[in-house]
Amino acid sequence: MAEDLVRISGTKDDIYDGLFPQIVALIGNEKDVVANLGNVSAALKEAFGFFWIGFYLVKDGELVLGPFQGPVACTRIQKGKGVCGAAWKQEQTVLVPNVDLFDGHIACSSLSKSEIVVPLFKNGEVVGVLDVDSDKLEAFDQIDKKHLEKLCQWISGLL
Ligand code: SME
Repeated sequence: MAEDLVRISGTKDDIYDGLFPQIVALIGNEKDVVANLGNVSAALKEAFGFFWIGFYLVKDGELVLGPFQGPVACTRIQKGKGVCGAAWKQEQTVLVPNVDLFDGHIACSSLSKSEIVVPLFKNGEVVGVLDVDSDKLEAFDQIDKKHLEKLCQWISGLL
């Protein structure tokens, strides 16, 4: 497909529902993980205007920064540390309405106010996370969780 996205308006559900098939088409048969995760980040950033969105991938027992869109971010996160490390350790999505109230939150940017982190599984193990940050409080809810988990399940097949 042409490398541009059709802009979708409507509810959050509408935007996710309209974006998902476009992401699938954008990736097509491409197998390069960096290229694909880069394009997934860019598509989500373009559709929602998230402050920061990107991937951390498990390498040698740590989460290491992968493709992302947004301001510079910390490079390595240990298991159990921060929101990303918590999602890895708990093997589940962590939704943080107010990062100041999350014990151990890693503030890559002081502008980040709320966050959602969704694990990526491969053969039952966490192999990375998708991290999305907003500069607004309570930006993420169960709708984001539902769609981002579906997206991450699909992304796992690309890894
Ligand atoms: N806030 C995250 C660290 C990554 S940055 O937000 C990009 C955390 O607490 O794990």
